[in-house]
Amino acid sequence: MSKTVHYLKDYQAPAHSVSRTDLSFDIRDSHTEVTARLTMRCERAGAPLVLDGSAELVSFKINGEAADYVLENDKLTVAAPPAGGFIVDTITRVRPSENKTLMGLYESGGNLYTQCEPEGFRKITFYPDRPDVMAEFSTTIIADAKRYPVLLSNGNQTGGGSLPDGRHWAKWEDPFKKPCYLFALVAGDLVRTADSFTTRSGRKVAVEFFTRKEDAGKVRFGIESLKHAMKWDETRFGLEYDLDIYMVVAVGDFNMGAMENKGLNIFNTACVLADSRTSTDADFERVESVIAHEYFHNWTGNRVTCRDWFQLSLKEGLTVFRDQEFSADRAGRAVRRIGSVSRLRAFQFPEDAGPTAHPVRPASYEDMNNFYTMTVYEKGAEVVRMYHTFLGEAGFQKGMRLYFERHDGRAVTCDDFRAAMADAGGFDFGQFALWYSQAGTPVLDIEGRRQDGSFILKVRQTVPPTPDAAAKQPMQMPLKTGLISRSGDSLEFEYGGKRGTEAVLILTQAEQEFVLGGVNTDAVPSLLRGFSAPVRANYPYTDADLALLLAHDPDPFARWEAGQTLLRRAVAANIAAAAEGRPLPAHAALREALGHVLAADIDPAYQALLLSVPTEAELWADMENFDPLAVHQAREALLDLIAAAFHSRFLALNSAAREQEERFPDPYGYAPEPAALRTLRNVCRAFILRADPAHIEQVSEKYDEMAKNMTHEWGIMSAVNNNPSPLRDSLLAKFGGKFAADALAMDKYFALTASSLRGDTPQQVRAALQHPQYNAQNPNKVRALIGTFTRNVPHFHAADGSGYRFLADKILETDRFNPSLASGLARAFNICRRLEPQRQALMKAELERIAAVENLSSETGEIVGKILA
Ligand code: PHE
Ligand code: ZN
Repeated sequence: MSKTVHYLKDYQAPAHSVSRTDLSFDIRDSHTEVTARLTMRCERAGAPLVLDGSAELVSFKINGEAADYVLENDKLTVAAPPAGGFIVDTITRVRPSENKTLMGLYESGGNLYTQCEPEGFRKITFYPDRPDVMAEFSTTIIADAKRYPVLLSNGNQTGGGSLPDGRHWAKWEDPFKKPCYLFALVAGDLVRTADSFTTRSGRKVAVEFFTRKEDAGKVRFGIESLKHAMKWDETRFGLEYDLDIYMVVAVGDFNMGAMENKGLNIFNTACVLADSRTSTDADFERVESVIAHEYFHNWTGNRVTCRDWFQLSLKEGLTVFRDQEFSADRAGRAVRRIGSVSRLRAFQFPEDAGPTAHPVRPASYEDMNNFYTMTVYEKGAEVVRMYHTFLGEAGFQKGMRLYFERHDGRAVTCDDFRAAMADAGGFDFGQFALWYSQAGTPVLDIEGRRQDGSFILKVRQTVPPTPDAAAKQPMQMPLKTGLISRSGDSLEFEYGGKRGTEAVLILTQAEQEFVLGGVNTDAVPSLLRGFSAPVRANYPYTDADLALLLAHDPDPFARWEAGQTLLRRAVAANIAAAAEGRPLPAHAALREALGHVLAADIDPAYQALLLSVPTEAELWADMENFDPLAVHQAREALLDLIAAAFHSRFLALNSAAREQEERFPDPYGYAPEPAALRTLRNVCRAFILRADPAHIEQVSEKYDEMAKNMTHEWGIMSAVNNNPSPLRDSLLAKFGGKFAADALAMDKYFALTASSLRGDTPQQVRAALQHPQYNAQNPNKVRALIGTFTRNVPHFHAADGSGYRFLADKILETDRFNPSLASGLARAFNICRRLEPQRQALMKAELERIAAVENLSSETGEIVGKILA
């Protein structure tokens, strides 16, 4: 298969623009006929007209007459199109029921949906399918009125009515110019739940959510979340909604979380439906944040969009930053921040240190679908957060206003955003451009010393080589810093002409010294507060320093991080002891520190985080040539030790939290306070069952009484999930039976099946593939079962290679109909070259088996190719 690489440096403005796009969809049982009229204009004299398209072409006319064209490699070329303005009319035919890619127009559960970002529109009709071509759209939909009573598209509905033969039609017009990736159409038998929101200028906006009948009872929380997000964007960002209607449609088959199509968001059911019987508190929180994310795109993405797909982070990094801030303002800023950092470290850091590493603004791609990554989204959000840290809230908002003043209605670049921030803030962001072009997680090696009444920090900055570039330049970044005295007080110091207990040091050089003045006592530095830059920071802390920070640091991130460092050191000590055949250490200092955490009177959700041992993916960050099983066992041993040391404390904490939970008027519905208590209870439950596996007998007897909502069920099931007793199997089977009719709850059943550490998990996973509720074509199911299995360390990394072989088989099966889903699974092999040689060889053999397959998709081919390169 020939591969085409697209380069940022090759960007050229479009040779032809489109001012209007008038579409008509005639939906028939066997196919849909799409009529498109494009009002176009030549922008570069003499250039050929090139349209992207892979649909079956029925007719093609220019200015009403059949035109000569060449159709090759999904491109339609007209060598000598008219100069000036002209009209293109095309008719295409698409078959949504045969489309299993979930891109373009496809069928799910008998209804029709579209997904166009990034390049799905070309599967529907022939078009300049690139985000810098922006047009006004109208969409007419004609379909059988019984089978498709609901007909939706972007904008406002401007017409509709019935037709002979039981058919009907609707016309939608979107007054805002948009690129075709924001086009959407939905046709089907859906239930509507309606509400409204009045904007701050007094306009009443209709809010309508559409679901299948059985899900209509689960939309209330999503609707409330949307209204909160609309209000928040007005108060914090001064941004108001612009259309008269905002629609959200839930679909069970969807490749990603959700899609921000103008006025007509399409959501994976997992990211919009919520009900405490079937959704965990974490699910509620995800719904709230994804609803907000898609809503925020209306300004950051839709009104101002991307010039080209290399700029994806312009909309995604910024919109993730906005949704993170929204969630933080809603509840639990500290806990949210730590959650985002953990995700970044567990998933983005490995990406940045592996074969698919790329900058926030990639310089090239083979298949754009592969660039909806943790780097573009989460590291991109950290980059936006750094502007905010440098400029402060007021300066950042000034930059946002300038950005909209300059670019509303346009398709722009990350440099345009950076320029708006620099100009509004009067701040030099020249060097900051490196965050968009250099991949790899910077490492800060920091040392501190006291000298002549000052505390001096020496910072060395290195950016590791990545496959795209060996030599890197130092970057500009904020290092938020404080000083803690030996007695635990925050010390005042002088920096940059100001005196205070905290300062933002500005790093720009490979090596730099910062003098914090007026410090006359011994101090421990509190570094990278709030995780002020997406880096790895090292400081030669003693265990006593870390215990001091864990007890006293007023910055919740830095405090948590001190505990995490102690825990990481403990796992490392276990690994070393096991390797040398010594007995495992007793970890007395760590136990003492954890004892204080358990006794502290703090937010229970924060307490739960302080008690969480870093995940394996995070622990691997500092390792090369490692045996995943050795790391796993060392971590498990530490968990066993903590569980045994504090067994009675966990029991007491769990029942105290239960009593508090029960005091809420609606104790088992979602709300941040009881949810925080449940987070802590589920951490306790895991330790309790670990310390006392026989406790499963009581759990099994009292399950129905304890299963107050899905968060409890999930916590209990997770706590017994590794238990060797047959009671675990009967509990899991019971769970599966109870929720057989609920697709999203069944995803949890499959995730539990695939995450168990028990020896029989591979057989249980294979059996689950045959489960009546499993569906290999549904991305949520595949990720719940296969995706979860790839994170089950002892089984996926089984020494005989059976886990790798299993995954490779599934990738190949999936790639035949849904390349995006397959290439996502293939990322589990990213870790390949960091493993010890035997596993590396086993993994490589599977990758080579995949690479050798004829007709492998370019998406999967790109990922596998980069890992093998
Ligand atoms: N743009 C979507 C979002 O981040 C994600 C998405 C990408 C969805 C590609 C579908 C396809 O909100
Ligand atoms: Zn997004």
